[in-house]
Amino acid sequence: MALPEVALPSIIGAAVPRIDGPLKVSGNAMYTADFHFPGMVYAIPVCSTVAKGKLTRLDASDAEKMPGVVAILRRENIGKLYRSARDLTFTAYLDERRPPFEDDVIYYNGQYVALAVAETFEQAQAAAAAVRVFYSEEKPDVGDDLEPEGKLKAGNTRGDTETAFAKAPVKIDETYVTPVETHNPIELHASVSIWDGSKFTLYETTQGVVNHRAVLAQVLGVPTENVQVISRFLGSGFGGKLFPWPHSALAAAASRQLNRPVKLVLSRNMMFSNVGHRPLTQQRVRLAATPDGKLVSLQHDYVNHTSILDNYQEHCGEATPYLYSVPNLGVASGLARRNVGTPTSMRGPGAVPGLFATESAMDELAIKLNMDPVEFRLLNEPEKDESNGLPFSSRHFQECLRVGADKFGWSKRNPKVSSMREGDLILGWGMAACSWIAERLSCEANVELRSDGTVRVACATQDIGTGTYTILAQIVSARTGVPLDRISVVLGDTSLPPGPLSGGSMATASVIPAVCAASDQAISTLLYTATQATNSPFSGKIFKDLAVTNGRVHEKSSPPDNGIPYETVLKNANVSEASGNGKSEGTFLKRSDKYSTHSFGAHFVEVTWDPGIARLRVRRIVTVIDGGRIINQRSARNQIEGSIMMGIGMALLEETHYEPRTGHPVNNNLADYCMSVNADTPEIDVTFLDYPDLVVNEYGARGVGEIGLAGVAAAIASAVYHSSGVRIRRLPVKIENLLAPGPTA
Ligand code: MOS
Repeated sequence: MALPEVALPSIIGAAVPRIDGPLKVSGNAMYTADFHFPGMVYAIPVCSTVAKGKLTRLDASDAEKMPGVVAILRRENIGKLYRSARDLTFTAYLDERRPPFEDDVIYYNGQYVALAVAETFEQAQAAAAAVRVFYSEEKPDVGDDLEPEGKLKAGNTRGDTETAFAKAPVKIDETYVTPVETHNPIELHASVSIWDGSKFTLYETTQGVVNHRAVLAQVLGVPTENVQVISRFLGSGFGGKLFPWPHSALAAAASRQLNRPVKLVLSRNMMFSNVGHRPLTQQRVRLAATPDGKLVSLQHDYVNHTSILDNYQEHCGEATPYLYSVPNLGVASGLARRNVGTPTSMRGPGAVPGLFATESAMDELAIKLNMDPVEFRLLNEPEKDESNGLPFSSRHFQECLRVGADKFGWSKRNPKVSSMREGDLILGWGMAACSWIAERLSCEANVELRSDGTVRVACATQDIGTGTYTILAQIVSARTGVPLDRISVVLGDTSLPPGPLSGGSMATASVIPAVCAASDQAISTLLYTATQATNSPFSGKIFKDLAVTNGRVHEKSSPPDNGIPYETVLKNANVSEASGNGKSEGTFLKRSDKYSTHSFGAHFVEVTWDPGIARLRVRRIVTVIDGGRIINQRSARNQIEGSIMMGIGMALLEETHYEPRTGHPVNNNLADYCMSVNADTPEIDVTFLDYPDLVVNEYGARGVGEIGLAGVAAAIASAVYHSSGVRIRRLPVKIENLLAPGPTA
């Protein structure tokens, strides 16, 4: 369907470097753990060394006598902490609902049982180690064979997959497993809390200051307006910082009990236990087609592990119902409880593990059909979203496949396994599709045109490192004509108008309507001011007959150059700023009943496999993304490149291991938990199709980030199969699996 083109200022889409870059490289950007206040004390949690059982006795007598120790806080002396009421509107949401120290039951290894507070970090650490904790211990369940509790819950369904699958001539029925993955942003989770007798000021590492405030107010039992949350800069989060975790409540409660500012920074080890992870998933895919490659049935059944207390669900079937045309389809999901901390969203939650399974299955079925995997996907393009009958707002998936295949040189692929050689290397070429939601969260923003010639835009969203500061400046510049170097952006503080989570790749799409509306209102205020001032050439004119072009106020009937700079208009009127507020509704919870909005893409991967020395490398990736209009080519490319690197880690390296007797994450450090690094970086070629999706917002930007990770692991696993003949259905791909003879691992 054809949508009207809009002419946009060239700042939209420009490859603008991050406006906060200089602050970061000079060390002047203040991250949570950088804040220091007079009288501040340091808190270190004491963590359970067992994963299941009861806390029977806690002896803090030695610890309390140690130098510098202020308190050993535990259930008896931390003060009252409440559960945050269940809230699914993302205005007060969290994944681990149990407040710290609520009872003496141990649910997972690493669970906080006490908090050592001391004058220095080292003293707090020593005191935490000196607290003696006694448990009655039971054998935990941290196993990875997921038997769901109860029957699977059916989700989106059409047709009859059972009958269609039974009758289908060509089919596969395989199970795919993705392991526990741990978020490892370089910035550790941290909380710095100040209590002034009635109000909390919380410096936090959070992807959602507004949500964090709402949750902490409930947990602490104080009115929302008595909590201010500040998060100016983040060293990323990948979903691990979307929602509050128990350490925030501990820091805040400690500051209230002790009447001192408290700093609590998690260790890297604690990050593997206490602040979420991507859960283990086990997914059975039954996929069937006619001999000429038309899909007839797709059943996607999946289970993820969750903690004992919380029902975290990994929505692996997120992209399944709409990606391809298939008359019979079902998704069904279940949970299996384990003695682990509560899982949480990790980059591309649901779709990322889900697409590993379904896109691997597409590759396996294409091989059975003796069809090219690109052709197979092109052949099953839907005309509309078959899960709800709605037209796609903007879908260019086939173009992603064609452009990607062309740039990669896919036509030169010999489909025969291990047939493409280069000296000792066997090349493997694989591909996969990707998709991600394109929705908005509600947002408010304020824009001020100021008499010093600057423009200020403020919003209580935050920049997790993706470029949100820069995006807001670009939007305001586009809307007001004021150059970037005169625009200041203020984010990450709940005292500003409420903004969205930095999550779901929705921040850019969410802020555009509110910031545009605020800019427009600020301009109206300015023009009205111009007509009201007595010493203004515009006095007595109708403000609707005026306009601002490139920062100059003029009559619409006369050229902009004859106008007056807006700061002069304001100064002459003795007005410090012309202010405007904007507000937009979200679409994430209340989806459109007119359009299905999603982003699409395709990855093409070359691996090299050297069986003589057992070396597997990803050498080249071509990615094409249909993510609506790209607001900033540089930050968007950076997002996709980072996601691709995460995809390489997911495919080949990442896996959190729990010790079966203690439930302890054994590789809970950056030496033993392997992630892809610069040395693993292949040649990466990212293309954005850049079709505006004007259903999503006025600039047609759907936002990008997570989509770049979706599908990468499937493309790599398929390339690994093409080179080695071994199909890996349980991530990560391990060298030893490729050395073993046999068709599967
Ligand atoms: Mo993302 S997992 O929505 O931070």
